[in-house]
Amino acid sequence: MRRKIVAGNWKMHTSLSEALDLYKEISSGVKPDDVGLLVFPPSIYLSSLQSLKLDTEIGCQNAHQEDKGAFTGELSQHMLNSLGVKNLLIGHSERRQYFGETDQIVNQKVRKGIENGFKCFVCVGESLDDRKSGNYLDIILDQVKKALDGINSLDQIIIAYEPVWAIGTGETASPDQAQEVHHEIRKHLINTFNVDTSIIYGGSCKPENAKELFSQTDIDGGLIGGASLKSDSFLKIANSFS
Ligand code: PGA
Repeated sequence: MRRKIVAGNWKMHTSLSEALDLYKEISSGVKPDDVGLLVFPPSIYLSSLQSLKLDTEIGCQNAHQEDKGAFTGELSQHMLNSLGVKNLLIGHSERRQYFGETDQIVNQKVRKGIENGFKCFVCVGESLDDRKSGNYLDIILDQVKKALDGINSLDQIIIAYEPVWAIGTGETASPDQAQEVHHEIRKHLINTFNVDTSIIYGGSCKPENAKELFSQTDIDGGLIGGASLKSDSFLKIANSFS
């Protein structure tokens, strides 16, 4: 089912007190009833944020594909289950780029995520070279197909389209560029699964450009990095649907 979503990816930012303050400010902010707000804080703060029992949903930026084992420094989906965390970001381009996450690993994480009952926010997006090659739609659809291989329902899937060249660079995909990709992804999902789901855009989305992006037919919201670290800009983005 499609719904409007604005999610904040805090990446490796904030101290504990900054995270708590930001979460409280976001949760006490005004936003339309039909927009789902969600934050992905650093995982070390998940319990602290949860203990505040506020309305804004919380998710984890990453979790290992195995349930347990000798994987020093990792955390498992079972651990997140035991905390009551319900949302998981999977395959962010920074995970792919800096931590060697392949399409196959992303798929393993998605499959596990479904099995473990998470809402899985699956990230896809092309590099600058891919975009310049002109072949970007095929590349993005290939990522989607590989990430969802073996999955037979979209009930727990949300797609985040994040062109790598637009993440943290200040350079946003134009509304037309983003719309083109969202449309193709949606067409593929409907053809394959016979149902629809939310597809959100990420990559230098901010209060100044959110309205135009969110007014595109196939854009259901945003995955926000830098602009999610200040409650006022994050809330402005959440109020950018026309
Ligand atoms: P950005 O990050 O908004 O800072 O470009 C988006 C993301 O990486 O999810």
